[in-house]
Amino acid sequence: MLLKVDKIKVFYDKALILKEVSLEAGHGEIIALIGPNGAGKTTTLKTIAGLLKTSSGAIYLENKRIDHEPPYVRASMGIILVPEGRGLFPKMSVEENLEMGAFLRKDVDEIRKDMEFVYSLFPVLRERRRQLAGTLSGGEQQMLAIAKGLMARPRILMLDEPSLGLAPKIVDHLIDAISQINREKKITILIAEQNVYAALSISERAYVLENGSIVMSGSSLELLENPVIKRSYLGL
Ligand SMILES: Nc1ncnc2c1ncn2[C@@H]1O[C@H](COP(=O)(O)OP(=O)(O)OP(=O)(O)O)[C@@H](O)[C@H]1O
Ligand SMILES: [Mg+2]
Repeated sequence: MLLKVDKIKVFYDKALILKEVSLEAGHGEIIALIGPNGAGKTTTLKTIAGLLKTSSGAIYLENKRIDHEPPYVRASMGIILVPEGRGLFPKMSVEENLEMGAFLRKDVDEIRKDMEFVYSLFPVLRERRRQLAGTLSGGEQQMLAIAKGLMARPRILMLDEPSLGLAPKIVDHLIDAISQINREKKITILIAEQNVYAALSISERAYVLENGSIVMSGSSLELLENPVIKRSYLGL
C-alpha cells in the first residue's frame, strides 16, 4: 500500500470530528472520498497532509509512519494537497504560481518538463501564463491549483472538491484531466467530492464518510449500483 490511514481520531478543540477513520490507497489508484457537508472529508485530507493532528491512530506512507512529520516533510515525500479554495497566490501570475508549486525541488530541467506537461494538460494556462491568478475564472483557477500541485511531483495528489462551484462542462474537462494525470504520470489520486457521480465515475474505489466515520467502502462501480448510494447521493 502506498498510503494507509489506520483508525485516526481527530478533534477540533473538544469536538471529535474523525472517529477512527481508516482508508488505503494503492500505487496508481484513484480513490474517492464522498459524503455530505460536514462529514469530515476536508478534515481527513488535511490530517493526511499534516495540517491537523491525530489524537490516536496512525498514517503510513509505504509502511513508514508519517503522522508525526510536519506538513513540509510530508510534501517533500510526495503527499500534496490541493485545498478547497485552491490555495493559489492571487497576486502572482499563473507561471509564478506554478514555480511556487515546485519550490521544494532543485531539479531545474525536470521542473521545466513538468511545466511543459501541465501546460499541455491545460493549454489555457499557457495562454494566460502572465495573468494574475486572482483574475482567472473559477475553472481556470481550479486547473491552476491542480497544475501547481503537480509541480511538486506528488506521489499522492489529494484534491479537495475540485468540482465545487463549476459548470458541468468544466467539471467534465477537469475529470478528464485528472484521469489523464493518473494514467500518464502514475500518480495516486485521493479525491474528496460532493459530486458523487463524478467522483465514482473516475475512481476505482471509494469510501463513504458520514459524521466522521467510514460507513461504506468498495469498488466505485459497485457503489454506483448500490441502492443506498443511488437514493442518498445520486438522487435516483
Ligand atoms: N476549524 C474548525 N473548527 C471547528 N470545527 C471545525 C473546523 N473545521 C471543520 N469543523 C467541523 O468539522 C466537521 C467536519 O468538517 P469538514 O470540513 O471536514 O467536512 P467536509 O466533509 O469537508 O464538508 P464539506 O463537504 O462541506 O466540505 C464539521 O462538523 C465542521 O463543522
Ligand atoms: Mg470539505
